[in-house]
Amino acid sequence: MPDLIVAGNWKMNTTVSEAAALAAAVRDGSGAVPGVELVLCPPFVSLAAVSDAVKGSAVKVGAQNMHFRESGAFTGEVSPGMLKGLCDYVILGHSERRQMFGETDESVNNKIKAAQAAGLKPILCVGESLEQREKGQASDVISGQVRAGLEGVSDASGLIVAYEPIWAIGTGQSATPETAAEVMGGAIFETLRSLFLAAADNIPLLYGGSMNAGNAGDYAAQDCIHGGLVGGAALQADQFLQVAAAVAAAKG
Ligand code: 13P
Repeated sequence: MPDLIVAGNWKMNTTVSEAAALAAAVRDGSGAVPGVELVLCPPFVSLAAVSDAVKGSAVKVGAQNMHFRESGAFTGEVSPGMLKGLCDYVILGHSERRQMFGETDESVNNKIKAAQAAGLKPILCVGESLEQREKGQASDVISGQVRAGLEGVSDASGLIVAYEPIWAIGTGQSATPETAAEVMGGAIFETLRSLFLAAADNIPLLYGGSMNAGNAGDYAAQDCIHGGLVGGAALQADQFLQVAAAVAAAKG
């Protein structure tokens, strides 16, 4: 089975001091959820403070985005080399970045390669819109995003894929565990299998979209779901830790 991972995407929330306090609270409770890798993804400006707060614990840190170039005239951007040392993971291709900041499959693909080259573990996010789902296009859209995002990637080690249906993000309308499993065990896993053969069996697949302490166990009860990418519920340490505990219990 792939590693179990529960990652918190804090999005554009928390000041530096709030981020440090939240990270410290997660760190203090993390001993209660052995067997699940906890990853905290604060805004860039808080990476150093969060990294300091979790030092010496098993809690890991991730960024929410990065540029694919190493340096240069890219005002406002952050490079893979800048993240190295501050975090181990990086979320790439989140639907909010695709929808609001013009990210394409091509730029996501460049970022995945750059992350791997820098020794960062990319969390590739994919997911369909409500319109695409209603038109019956979900599987095609998602397998297309996985294939395009991973074009030319030959090594699956360190790779994580998160399925986040856009209509489920921040809406309270989570996908049913069965719907998530149909996509994750279907379009996503089959595409990964075609790209990486048996190595696909070790790629953690995370569900994201209104995941919380109450529903996390139902997702993790599905064989093809190995954790979550949590937004709103990750902003409170106790809820985030309860999500991780529910995942551990379901897989236990
Ligand atoms: P919510 O958990 O707030 O729906 O956000 C999910 C998400 O986008 C995580 O990346």
